[in-house]
Amino acid sequence: MFKISAKVLIVPGILLLIAGGTSFALSNFSDGAKTDYENAVLATAGDVHAGRVLFNANCSACHGTEANGWIGPNLHSVKARKSDVAIIRQIDSGLTPPMPKFELNERQMADILSYLKSI
Ligand code: HEC
Repeated sequence: MFKISAKVLIVPGILLLIAGGTSFALSNFSDGAKTDYENAVLATAGDVHAGRVLFNANCSACHGTEANGWIGPNLHSVKARKSDVAIIRQIDSGLTPPMPKFELNERQMADILSYLKSI
């Protein structure tokens, strides 16, 4: 009797955990409506090497030459925390001072995105 009632509790518990994890992942990566600029960046195949060059010129003063973090956070595995669109918005919004607003064209943004996803 006891075994059966334990299972009855454990199975829905596991299902709830899975459901909770899924909804967290979804809310974490829900981007809302994308702008034309964001869609254009996502449609562009970025170049990792060009992205690294741009990163060293524009970002490494704060994030470190190897993106290991300094004034700004370590960007390794940022792709696990933020969606592509959230990364684009982080870079072009200027909403998180002291990080400035960067006005990159679609190709430059796609290149930086490729670099950040490669590390
Ligand atoms: C003046 C310093 C500075 C410069 C230059 C800078 N950043 Fe940042 N960056 C920051 C700081 C500080 C944060 C943390 C902001 C926060 O979330 O409060 C940050 C956050 C980020 C994040 C989000 C990190 C995370 O863990 O969610 C990304 C991605 C990022 N920066 C990319 C870039 C890129 C790409 C460039 C160059 C185009 C750049 N940054 C240039 C200071 C800087």
